[in-house]
Amino acid sequence: MAGFYYFVRTGVTAIRQIPLQQATGDMILANDIINGHNQVLVTAGTPLRQEIIALLGKHGINSISVRDATEKPNKELSTVPNLISAATRLSMIQAMQNAYRNRGGIAAHLPYLRECIHRVIEELSAHGNLLIYLSDIRQKSDYLYGHCVDVGVFAVAFGMAMGLSRDEIYILGIGGLLHDYGKNSIPNEILEKNGPLTPDEFEQVKKHTSFGYNTLRAETKVDCRIALMALQHHERPDGRGYPWGIADDKIHPLARIVAVADVYDALITDRVYRPRISAHEAIAIINAGAGTQFDSQVVAAVNKIVVPYYIGSAVKFDNGQAGAVVRINSQEPSRPVVWTREGIVNLLHQRNLRIVAVV
Ligand SMILES: [Fe+2]
Repeated sequence: MAGFYYFVRTGVTAIRQIPLQQATGDMILANDIINGHNQVLVTAGTPLRQEIIALLGKHGINSISVRDATEKPNKELSTVPNLISAATRLSMIQAMQNAYRNRGGIAAHLPYLRECIHRVIEELSAHGNLLIYLSDIRQKSDYLYGHCVDVGVFAVAFGMAMGLSRDEIYILGIGGLLHDYGKNSIPNEILEKNGPLTPDEFEQVKKHTSFGYNTLRAETKVDCRIALMALQHHERPDGRGYPWGIADDKIHPLARIVAVADVYDALITDRVYRPRISAHEAIAIINAGAGTQFDSQVVAAVNKIVVPYYIGSAVKFDNGQAGAVVRINSQEPSRPVVWTREGIVNLLHQRNLRIVAVV
C-alpha cells in the first residue's frame, strides 16, 4: 500500500507510518496532526495513550507517523520529520491568503512575508543537518496557498544548500511565496478545472507569469528580483519554457531555483486530476531533467538535502537484490544503508549498486 513501509529494528530510531488501529501506548507521535480546519490536533512527540488514539480516530485520522518510546532518538534522523512547524506553516497560509487577495496592496504585506521567511530560515537553520523528507510539508487544504508556502520553504532550503547569501535567501523565499501571484488574474474555473486544459485554456494559464510580473513591478517597494521570479519560474534551461522561451543564464538564477521548487511541490501533491507521486519518483524526474528542464546546480543542491526514502522503505537494487532502508547517509541521502538477507549494504561505498524501485 502506498505510503506504508515495514520496519526493520536495527538500533537506530525509525519513523514509520502505520494505520491508526495499530498504534499502541509504547509509541510516540512523530509528526504534528492537523485537522480539516488547519488546527494542530496533537503535536509531534506526544505519547500515544489510549485517549489520544481515540481522539485521532474521532477526527477521522487513518494513519499516523510514529516512533517507539523506548528508543533513544537518533540525533540526525529525529530532527527531520517536521521541516517547519505546523504553526509557522499555518500562519504562512493565512498570510498568503491575505497577500494573494491583495488586501491593501502587496507592499503592505511585504514586512510580514519577510517575517515569515525569517521564521522559515530560523527553523531550517535549527536542523543541524538539513535533510528534507519531501512529504513532510505536503498537506493539502487550499492548493494555491499551500503550494505557494511550500514553494517558498523549498526554495529557501535549496538556496541554503547552495550557499546563497542571507539577503538572496530572503528575496528567494519571498519570490517563492509570490511566484504564482499572477494566478489572481486567471479565472477560477480554469485553475480548478477537474481535467486536462484545452490549448486555449493553457494559453490563458501561461499568462499568470506576465500578470504576476506586471502587478509586482507596479509596486515600487517590491524588489525587482521578486517580480522576475514570478515572470520566469516556467522558463527552462533548454529554452522550451514560457512566457519568452529564454534559456540557461538568461533566466535569473533565483527563478531557476523557484522553478525546481515549483515542479517538485506539484509532483508530490495530490491534485484533482492526478494523485501525487512518491518522493523517490519525483527525485528521479527532477534528475532526468537536469540541464534541460532544470538548472543542474539546483538539482545538485536538491540531491544534497532531499531524502527519497524513509527508514523502513523496502527497496530493490538493479542487481535484483531487495532490502529495507535502515539508515540515511546525510552526505548523500539518495544512497542509504540497506539491510538485505545477505547482509548490510552501504550504498555510499558500494557505488556499483543502484536503487531502482521502492516496493
Ligand atoms: Fe506558476
